[in-house]
Amino acid sequence: MADESGLLRSTLGFWGGLLLLACSAPLAAQAPATVEVTYARDVAPIMQASCQSCHRPGSVAPMSLLTYQDARRWARSIKEQVQSRVMPPWPLDTGVGIQRFKNDQSLSDEEVETIVAWVDAGAPLGNPADMPPDIAWPAWGERWAYEERFGRPPDVVVSSPAYTVTADGMDQWPILPAVDVTAEMGVKGERWIRAVELRPATPGSASVFHHGSARVANRLPEDVYIGPGSSNSPAEVRDLQRDQLAEAAVGVEGSIFPEGTGRLLKEGDQIVFNPHFYPAKLTEDLPDVALQVGVWLYPEGVVPRPTDGDIVYDQTSMPGMEDAPLIIPPNSQATYRTSFRLEGNARIHSIRGHMHLLGAYNVVEAVYPDGRYELINKLNWDQRWHTAFLYEDDVQPLLPKGTVVIITTVFDNTRNNLAAPDPDQWVFAGNRTVDEMFRLRLGTTFYSDEDFAELVAERQGRPVASR
Ligand code: HEC
Repeated sequence: MADESGLLRSTLGFWGGLLLLACSAPLAAQAPATVEVTYARDVAPIMQASCQSCHRPGSVAPMSLLTYQDARRWARSIKEQVQSRVMPPWPLDTGVGIQRFKNDQSLSDEEVETIVAWVDAGAPLGNPADMPPDIAWPAWGERWAYEERFGRPPDVVVSSPAYTVTADGMDQWPILPAVDVTAEMGVKGERWIRAVELRPATPGSASVFHHGSARVANRLPEDVYIGPGSSNSPAEVRDLQRDQLAEAAVGVEGSIFPEGTGRLLKEGDQIVFNPHFYPAKLTEDLPDVALQVGVWLYPEGVVPRPTDGDIVYDQTSMPGMEDAPLIIPPNSQATYRTSFRLEGNARIHSIRGHMHLLGAYNVVEAVYPDGRYELINKLNWDQRWHTAFLYEDDVQPLLPKGTVVIITTVFDNTRNNLAAPDPDQWVFAGNRTVDEMFRLRLGTTFYSDEDFAELVAERQGRPVASR
């Protein structure tokens, strides 16, 4: 995250110019006919709903947008950012594929028009009496993101051991040793997990946090594949897939398993944290960096799986991606395509790409067993936002056994990609931020033929393949 603000400004220069060309004429023509748009009545509610969670002191954004004065000072930049849809971050092609998500934080066209009209009108305050009451934002770490959804804080919170991030500017991937959950959590016997959230424990930890995961220890070597096509029995998989507990990055908070599914946590389990720290901005060593994982459990005795055959796997890389020889020539775009055949009936509840600085986009397509084709989504990669897109229940792709999933990944190592460190260099696969990587995570639940047939029958108005 070396010089993002510089990158961002250059991006803005480009998009701002383009959009001004595209939009200034119609807006200018409309403006006089409409009632004046004011901050107090029209813009403040949008700022509260869509911007202030990040744009407030102590959160992730560089400047606050809590007050009228703040917003006025940034008015021009706000107009550019919302028009180009860089803000709020939602790196998805909204022109193709499935468009209904539980965590969609993008603005509607009307909201963008309101903000643009307000800036064009000279960013007026309007009548202060129209101003909505301030939101009482929680202090850092006071509240978990999923707390509101479940109506309670996590049942169990585990903190990683503290780590000192050194100020040499290089990526660091410490493995923070096992924490015993029995002692810390009081988990007895077997308990099923409904949701997991992973977060940096302090603002300092957040400032150097690139992404990270928490694993249940003593399970699997890292690269064992446990998705469709693996040779493990469902019962083995049930146990094996407990390995990956939670993953987080900016835009990814963790996992909420679909109703009726979950992950198993057993008395005696140990948790290992694997963060990736990227301390480019540090001028001196930063001690006491830590992560926390919060776990919401199903009530004691509740086993959420409808049948033994069901497998949930989440955050798992797709076959073909781990081993691809990644070679990106200078001044070029490189395209990789991988496909795999689903060995089980799958319901996809989330989708997330992962690349580094040269990532451009992923296209995810499905060819159903009856030959029907569907473009599922096109994810526009932006290395600043590792957004996990959570499908609304009634649009979650239902992919029967035998569906072929095709994933196309495009890297842009040209000067058009303002994040590319040096387009004259060859770039290869690796873990450093300046190396490349490609992964696609599909949050998936597998169903028996009978349960899947029921799911498909429930889903109306959406064509499904005959079985
Ligand atoms: C998920 C967190 C998040 C949300 C939500 C969000 N922002 Fe941002 N915003 C950021 C971050 C982080 C940056 C800095 C980006 C960087 O450094 O590359 C930023 C940068 C900006 C900038 C550029 C500042 C500059 O240097 O010119 C503007 C303007 C902005 N945001 C406006 C908004 C507006 C308006 C909204 C709501 C409609 C919004 N943001 C919602 C996180 C967020």
